[in-house]
Amino acid sequence: MDLPWFENPPGYQFLHCLVNSAKGGDSSAVDAFAVAEYLKNNDSDTFDTLTKIPLKFRDKDYTQEAHRSFYGTAISLTKDGDYNDVRFSTATMDALDCHPDQMDKVYKSHHKFGKLLHDDKFQIKFRLRPGDIYTFNNRRVLHGRTEFDPNSGHRHLQGYYMDRDEIVGRLNYLKK
Ligand SMILES: [Fe+2]
Repeated sequence: MDLPWFENPPGYQFLHCLVNSAKGGDSSAVDAFAVAEYLKNNDSDTFDTLTKIPLKFRDKDYTQEAHRSFYGTAISLTKDGDYNDVRFSTATMDALDCHPDQMDKVYKSHHKFGKLLHDDKFQIKFRLRPGDIYTFNNRRVLHGRTEFDPNSGHRHLQGYYMDRDEIVGRLNYLKK
């Protein structure tokens, strides 16, 4: 996901493919709520850990002269127990900052979650063509790509974000 170190990471993400002629660079997507549901039904201890013990995410941005960090659980629930957000990014996870007695189970739970997120039974794979816009809820659908060779062609995805409130609010209005 993008920007998990923000208190409120972007809601919807849009990746507009302008050029994709380089070798490699196929896209992938996984519905992390579906994986959370699988854990809830098959491994309640792991699910419990992921919804209760916060992880820490960080970004040291020297161009913006800012060091940002945020504590958040891997899975967060709404007041009704529905899925609200997922926070997952191994690249930007900071050192664990929890009680030493919890550390082992937090690492194991996160590892299990990560393995399932990468499992072919949950992932879809596709290739973006010029003109495609890949749109997804950044706090639910995790995105990835395979390695690409920048010397074999060009690749340009123009990305932008919108708050979830804007889209959900408009849909609620249109339903009335
Ligand atoms: Fe991204």
